[in-house]
Amino acid sequence: MQYFNNIVDTIGNTPLVKLNRITQNIPGLFLAKVEYFNPGNSIKDRIGIKMILDAEADGRLKPGGTIIECTSGNTGMGLALASVVRGYKCIFTTTDKQSKQKLDILRALGAEVIVCPTNVEPEDPRSYYSVAKRLAKEIPNSIHMNQYDNLSNRAAHYETTGPEIWKQTEGKITHYVTTIGTGGTVMGTAMYLKEKNPNIQVLGVDVYGSLLKKYHDTGDLDMNEVFPYVTEGIGEDFVPANYDMKYIDHIEQVTDKDGAIMARKLAREEGIFCGYSAGTLMQGLQQMKDKFDKDAVVVCILHDHGSRYVAKIYNDEWMRERGFLTDEPVTAKSIIERKRIKELVSASPNETVAAAFKKMKEMALTQLPVVENDAIIGSITERDILQLLMDNPVNREDEVGKLMSKPFPVVGLQDTAQDISKLINAQNSAVMVKANSGLWSIITEFDLIEAMAG
Ligand SMILES: Cc1ncc(COP(=O)(O)O)c(C=O)c1O
Repeated sequence: MQYFNNIVDTIGNTPLVKLNRITQNIPGLFLAKVEYFNPGNSIKDRIGIKMILDAEADGRLKPGGTIIECTSGNTGMGLALASVVRGYKCIFTTTDKQSKQKLDILRALGAEVIVCPTNVEPEDPRSYYSVAKRLAKEIPNSIHMNQYDNLSNRAAHYETTGPEIWKQTEGKITHYVTTIGTGGTVMGTAMYLKEKNPNIQVLGVDVYGSLLKKYHDTGDLDMNEVFPYVTEGIGEDFVPANYDMKYIDHIEQVTDKDGAIMARKLAREEGIFCGYSAGTLMQGLQQMKDKFDKDAVVVCILHDHGSRYVAKIYNDEWMRERGFLTDEPVTAKSIIERKRIKELVSASPNETVAAAFKKMKEMALTQLPVVENDAIIGSITERDILQLLMDNPVNREDEVGKLMSKPFPVVGLQDTAQDISKLINAQNSAVMVKANSGLWSIITEFDLIEAMAG
């Protein structure tokens, strides 16, 4: 029979998967180490069990003890899984920046989760770091795991991630690329790989708002580099003890926006549905493309699964609110989605011109489609009405159907702003589009300008 003794034993030996499209403009072979194949869906399962085993071995953790940690979710998951198997209680402190699903997942595994404010200094008593330290002092038989300064973190990668990559690439790896947070992933793996072959280039990918790059490049701990950012799990406002910067050959910084866009691209182009930092890494590769040549064998760590980010980077509304979707082509669909007045205001052919004009005035509209039995049969504009009144004031009691102009042209949901703009001109002030719901919507010149101007 083939089985594992418990879920913890399934950690590691994640697959290396060739990237076929997203890096096709860069020379070399790009291999993603897809860490969501771990049972907790992230690379942090590796360090969860390692930190526990090391603490048991040197007596810091005793049977029935409580494990305390500040974690953005992934390390919590790794610790929670291992704690269930080995019989410990977990308390996690985290920040209000983290996705709610991540916290619910931890609670599902029996952990207690305490949410702390993001934008306070690490030394502030309210920070998730300080709260964890305090609880560890107050609760008997408890241990603050502290993945930042706990060297079992990088040791986990020295013992597992590094050897796996060396074996899987048959020692042919030339570049190792990973995003960086606590530094455990980059350091442990780099230490192992550079021992095997000191020529392997280690490239770290950081986020703007973190001081790690500047510290690596200059040795300065420059707090001016630090500002709030939304990318989860990476970047720091201090240098955790797991780092030894001499093992890292280069650090590249990526914006929140570019990382988010690339995570979506990774899912769509490769079918690899990963978290935010995987997108950050993909963008880092693009920014560093001059570092690779046709013989390069590049191993990229993809830390976690996309399911934890469905309410964030995989949600169009979240992306749009942050201005992250501006590179997407503006289409009829995106224009009607952002319209403030959703329901179509229209005239019927047998109402009077005066009634139609009253409606336009009340709703501050300059044109109306004329609709009969869900068919667009004509249009009436301010200009048409003015013309009628100039000709003969009594016309205002005429029926719209008698005096209306031809209907606005109909466009498809996927037609772009460029397509639509060709149809809007002096003679024609709007176009019509049928939404997926089956309801008609109008796109006016104003809607088009508003959508294009962002
Ligand atoms: C999603 C994600 N990516 C990247 C990292 C960075 O890894 P490390 O902390 O080992 O530097 C983390 C760490 O929390 C993470 O959760």
